Amino acid sequence: MADIPYPPELLRDVAKRRTFGIISHPDAGKTTLTEKLLLFGGAIQLAGTVKARKSARHATSDWMEVEKQRGISVTSSVMQFEYQDHTINLLDTPGHQDFSEDTYRVLTAVDAAVMVIDAAKGVEAQTIKLLEVCRLRNTPIITFVNKMDREVRETFDLLQEIEEVLKIDCAPITWPIGMGKTFRGVYHLLEDRVLRFTAGEEKRSEGELIKGIANAQLDELFPLEVGKLREDVELIQGASSPFSLGDFLAGKQTPVFFGSGINNFGVQEILQALLDWAPPPQPRVAGVNDADTRLVQPAEAPFTGFVFKIQANMDPKHRDRIAFFRICSGRYTSGMKVRHVRMGREMKLANALTFMANERVLMEDGVAGDIIGIHNHGQLHIGDTLTEGENLGYKGIPYFSPELFSAARLRDPLKSKQLQKGLQELGEEGAIQVFEQEGGNMLLGAVGQLQFEVVAQRLKDEYKVDAIFESADIHTARWLTFPDELTRRNFEREQSMRIGKDVDGNPVYLASSRYNLEVTMEKWPKVGFHATREHG
Ligand code: G4P
Repeated sequence: MADIPYPPELLRDVAKRRTFGIISHPDAGKTTLTEKLLLFGGAIQLAGTVKARKSARHATSDWMEVEKQRGISVTSSVMQFEYQDHTINLLDTPGHQDFSEDTYRVLTAVDAAVMVIDAAKGVEAQTIKLLEVCRLRNTPIITFVNKMDREVRETFDLLQEIEEVLKIDCAPITWPIGMGKTFRGVYHLLEDRVLRFTAGEEKRSEGELIKGIANAQLDELFPLEVGKLREDVELIQGASSPFSLGDFLAGKQTPVFFGSGINNFGVQEILQALLDWAPPPQPRVAGVNDADTRLVQPAEAPFTGFVFKIQANMDPKHRDRIAFFRICSGRYTSGMKVRHVRMGREMKLANALTFMANERVLMEDGVAGDIIGIHNHGQLHIGDTLTEGENLGYKGIPYFSPELFSAARLRDPLKSKQLQKGLQELGEEGAIQVFEQEGGNMLLGAVGQLQFEVVAQRLKDEYKVDAIFESADIHTARWLTFPDELTRRNFEREQSMRIGKDVDGNPVYLASSRYNLEVTMEKWPKVGFHATREHG
């Protein structure tokens, strides 16, 4: 590939893409920031569009109601908009921690992330988990410290906490002046200007700019705060590391911005940082012919990409499922023929969808970084690669060992075919993990309790199956790998009661307790027990 020059129009179009996700602990302000980014990007005209959806999502039943109002759930997944001659793809990550597996997969499809931190609360549990996932791929992170209009923590403390807990260097780009009722704005350390804060504006507001930290206007306007600002700035200029694009792109350092999403303050800077610093679509590792791996460059002409999410019920009339597909190279054109690598056969890609802020439209043209929605009738699984010919498979889309298990039992035993079909499809979609045990028992594994409720409801609505979930005597699951055939057969013979198969047919050890797992691992040192598995 290396000696074939990349098509110039592909190089040009790829360079204009920015594909990112927002990570945060629930309530830190992700929905608000998403909305404001869309507002600033001109993708929505009215505040409240994204918010309304979220508040309806709080309770399980409401959440499902909302999911049923199809058009809406589409917008929740991917939002594309144009901003300053760039095409921005914002991938939504479900906020509720019960859907964290879904979030992890979405993060494999982004090139950068914006981390929202509640300035009063600092680093929270879900932030830590999500950042770990970003770290797996060294995803560059832009930090937005939100809610500065409230009584919040000391700025130096916050930065120190981010550095210590998240193990990432902070390079403040803006610096807050005051907080809560006396929040005056931010000082831009790189541009030597103060951006004044005006509260409660529901429209886009540029704010007022004051040039230079020594400017006497600052003394007039903020006599009580300006002294501390100058002291702080002197301190950080001496103490903290200056912003380094290289360290940011390597995931070692995060530029930090302060603001208040609800007040539209600091949002513009985040968009600018995405354009100026966040990387365009990056080369990605793919396995070739099940043996080697190679880096696929985003401007390579042949089309490639992978499915990172499957979402059902986007259209009540069609009961369709949409596979969300990240393009990694080449160009999508309607009607193109691609190779479904796992199935080893050709398929035609037509009528793929793209997702604007509040509608889905037919995709006409897509390049690396863009997300297309492919109508799926079960042929596409999470992790599947499609290519224009080459036999390669993208790596790194994880399944995590579930933490909660239950066995599905039917109220009406005659419906077992439907149950099987329903669970198979919901498993492929990633809504829940499904393991089939010897004798045909179906065992469900989830990361969060809410997943069971969603699955029970969907089985009822979509497959007309009334199933009861009973708690199962399982502590954890481990994917198994064997050094050779003989070991596999011996292990399977001895442990048949504790083995299940996942939706792709991979063997899994279902441990009854931590102790049981330890004993088995000790007894079978050559067998691999894995807490995660890659799709595909
Ligand atoms: P999430 O998606 O991360 O869960 O957070 P979301 O944006 O929904 O924000 C959580 C709460 O924090 C919301 O309040 C929201 O209005 C508030 N919030 C977001 N940004 C700011 C900010 O800059 N300053 C202040 N003071 N609050 C902010 P809520 O009461 O839960 O919802 P709502 O009734 O305001 O909609």
